[in-house]
Amino acid sequence: MKVLVIGSGGREHAIVWKLAQSRVVDKIYCVPGNAGISDIAECVEVESKNLSSLLDFVKYEWIDLTVVGPEDPLAHGIVDIFEKDGRKIIGPTKAAAQLESSKVFAKDFMKRHKIPTADYKVFTSYTHAEEYIRLKGTPIVIKAEGLAAGKGVFVCQNYDEAIDALKLIMKEKIFGSAGDRVVIEECLQGKEVSYLVFTDGKHIIPMVTSKDHKRLLDKDEGPNTGGMGTFSPNPIITPELEKDIIENIIKPTIRGLKLEGIIYKGILYAGLMIINNKPYVLEFNCRFGDPETQVILPRLETDLVDIFMAIAEQRLNKVEIKWKADASLCVILASEGYPGKYKKGIPISGLDMVKGLEDVMVFHAGTKFNEEGQIVTNGGRVLGITALGKDIKEARQKAYNAVELINFQGMQYRKDIGLNI
Ligand code: AMP
Ligand code: GLY
Repeated sequence: MKVLVIGSGGREHAIVWKLAQSRVVDKIYCVPGNAGISDIAECVEVESKNLSSLLDFVKYEWIDLTVVGPEDPLAHGIVDIFEKDGRKIIGPTKAAAQLESSKVFAKDFMKRHKIPTADYKVFTSYTHAEEYIRLKGTPIVIKAEGLAAGKGVFVCQNYDEAIDALKLIMKEKIFGSAGDRVVIEECLQGKEVSYLVFTDGKHIIPMVTSKDHKRLLDKDEGPNTGGMGTFSPNPIITPELEKDIIENIIKPTIRGLKLEGIIYKGILYAGLMIINNKPYVLEFNCRFGDPETQVILPRLETDLVDIFMAIAEQRLNKVEIKWKADASLCVILASEGYPGKYKKGIPISGLDMVKGLEDVMVFHAGTKFNEEGQIVTNGGRVLGITALGKDIKEARQKAYNAVELINFQGMQYRKDIGLNI
C-alpha cells in the first residue's frame, strides 16, 4: 500500500515513523517533509497550498491513503475534495474542521450543546472590545477568531497587555482577516491537559493521555508557543476524570455535530483546563497535536493503518487498539528567538550520536539538508527528542541524556518537561 503524509513537522515525522512499521505499507511519500522524514519516506515538493495539485499527485502515484498533519489543508477543504474524487483521506471535512478554524464557531457550538468552556463574547468593533475588557477586568484571554499558526491567543494579566493584544489583532491586523473578529473570554486557571481521540463519526477510541508545555520557559513562564515538550500518560487524568471528559465533552461534540448535519471523522483533540477535577474546553483541534503525537504514537502497539482504514470505513468499533505500558516524554529543541523571529540554516551536531540509542527517537521538525549535505535548522521548533521508559522519570532521564548530545548555535529548550507533575 502507498501512503501520503502531508506536513513537515515533528508530528508528521512521528506519523511517518509509525506508518513505516506497518505490515501493509510499501511506500510512504511526504509533502513536503523534512531532513529526518527523508530517511524513511520520499519527500516531494508539491504546491501543497494548491489542493488540486495534491489530488493530481495522489492520482498520478496511485496512492491508497492520505493522512493530513496540519490544520490548514483541513480548514481549506482537502478532505471534501479528496472524498469527492473517491480517495481515502484521514481528517475532518471543511465544515467539521471549523471546530478549530473558527473560534467563534467552536464557542457558539459549545454553548448550543452545553459543553463546558470559558464564558466569552465575540467582538467585531475595537471600541466595544476595549470597553468589555475594562468592564471585565484582568486576567482575561483574547483570541483572534481564525487560524493564526498557534499564535492567536493572548493570556493577559493586566489591562495594558490586553489592550496591546487587542491592537495587534484588530488594528495592526498581524493575523490578517483571522483577526476581523475577536473572542474575549474568561481566564481559566487550573491544570492543562491534552485529550485526543480517534473517531469515525460513530465510534470513539481515546488515545493515551498526554500533557503539553505551551509556554516557552521553565515554570510556565514566557510567551505561548506551539508546544515545548510533552509527556504521556498524564497522571492528572484519573479514570473518573477520563469518563467525565468522554461523556461531557467528546461524545456531546461528535453528537452535536451530527445533529447539525456534520460527520466528524479523523482525530479530535480537546485542549482542556481541569478545574476542581472538572474539564473545560480551551480549544478544539481537528488533527493530531504537535508535540503530543511524538509521545502518543511511540506508545501505540497497533498498526496505525488498521486504525486509519477503520476510520475511513466507519468501523472503528471493530479495531482493538493496544498501547504500551511504558511512559514517554518529548523535549523540543527550538531556535534562538522562537516563537518570534529566528535564523535558519544553522548546522546541527550530535545527530549521529543519538541515532540508535535504545528507546530514544529523534523526530525532526524544522530541519533540512544544506548544499553541502549537512542537516541544518529550518524552522522555530527544530527537533523533538522522545524517549520511552518504565515511568515518566525514566523517560525524562533518557530524553534529557540524549538532548545533551545534540547542539546547534542558539538552541533553546525547557529543562522542566515532566518535572512537576
Ligand atoms: P488555544 O489555542 O485556544 O488552546 O490557546 C492556547 C493556549 O492559551 C492554551 O493552551 C492555554 O494555555 C491558553 N488559554 C486559552 N484559552 C484560555 C483560557 N480561557 N484561560 C486560560 N488560558 C487559556
Ligand atoms: N501542541 C498543541 C497543538 O498541537 O496545537
